[in-house]
Amino acid sequence: MILVTGGAGYLGAHAVLALLEAGEEVVVLDNFANSSPEALRRVRRISRRKPALVVGDVRNRSVLDDLFKRFPVDAVMHFAGLKAVGESVRQPLRYYDTNVGGSINLCQAMAYAGVFTLVFSSSATVYGDCQRMPIDEQTACGHPTNPYGQSKLMTEQVLASLAQADDRWSIGVLRYFNPVGAHPSGLLGESPKAVPSNLLPYLLRVAGGQLPALPVFGNDYPTPDGTGVRDYIHVLDLVAGHLDTLAYLRRSSGIRAWNLGTGLGYSVLELVHAFERISGISVPLDMRERRPGDVAKCWADATRAREELGWVARRDLDTMLRDAWHWQRANPTGYSKMPGSGTAAKVADERASALPLR
Ligand code: WQD
Repeated sequence: MILVTGGAGYLGAHAVLALLEAGEEVVVLDNFANSSPEALRRVRRISRRKPALVVGDVRNRSVLDDLFKRFPVDAVMHFAGLKAVGESVRQPLRYYDTNVGGSINLCQAMAYAGVFTLVFSSSATVYGDCQRMPIDEQTACGHPTNPYGQSKLMTEQVLASLAQADDRWSIGVLRYFNPVGAHPSGLLGESPKAVPSNLLPYLLRVAGGQLPALPVFGNDYPTPDGTGVRDYIHVLDLVAGHLDTLAYLRRSSGIRAWNLGTGLGYSVLELVHAFERISGISVPLDMRERRPGDVAKCWADATRAREELGWVARRDLDTMLRDAWHWQRANPTGYSKMPGSGTAAKVADERASALPLR
């Protein structure tokens, strides 16, 4: 059985679904700080299987001890954490406590329960500001410029020490580039509780008429059109990488890091134009100054994941944008109930059944 911490969140819920579809048993630990139980109801609807659920905080040792006693967990996927960069600058202790403290607490409870297989959600932010692209796993360009990124790097260091101290551990560190997209059913997607700070969720709300214009943070970067370039990866490809990692970890020990990205970079304007072509909607732009802490460009060399995990990202940018837009239209208010009759899920079902299968 797999414990998925943060299993009701954006990435976690897609991972739970993929695990259930692969025939694994799953127990979710989530405190619903930035997620909704509705995500798990929809996972159940799509998979026709039910994950077990423990509502609680990853920082709470007794919750974890109790969970490991009740469920025969043999591996953990650890998604639970905070991820808003700007917020992390204002509330550093909360970020270190949740992301680093939560991970340490989880590892202590795992060791106590005799569970030593762990997949950790890290981020390409650990590489800092790199000039040479693409970025491979050995690259070291500096340090993350905010507490969120620091908390990921610090947790990686804790895990490395742990694996060095005790060879029972088998740990996969997955460095995500920019996860986007949604389940093609329109039932699962990203549902931020606050105004989104990431590009695609913000763009979706502008296209849906909930926000007036998309701020574009800087058009004077040394990139072909002056806007920031990133490696956007479909959430389904990302979670497929987790299942491949789990298979690898089950036959190895030690710690290893893998990039999960497509290896392709798109600028903000390229992404906006592709979205406009797909949706038929024109997106009003609001040119702004550069956002503090942003890098000009960032894309992955994902060769190691291909060679060692047999993993590659298969879905292109159009698919990411199409699935994200489908989710947004079907769930304009995310997982919260829409005003008026019916629920967002009902609308998603109707729209999904009207769409041709890909
Ligand atoms: C992408 C590009 C922005 C919003 C961050 C974290 C990373 C990861 C994902 C967690 C950049 C531009 C953005 C907007 C814009 N963490 N942009 N207008 O900054 O690459 O990565 O989120 O979940 O660790 O650092 O992602 O989506 O915020 O920005 O022009 O309203 O879009 O400047 O070039 P980022 P992002």
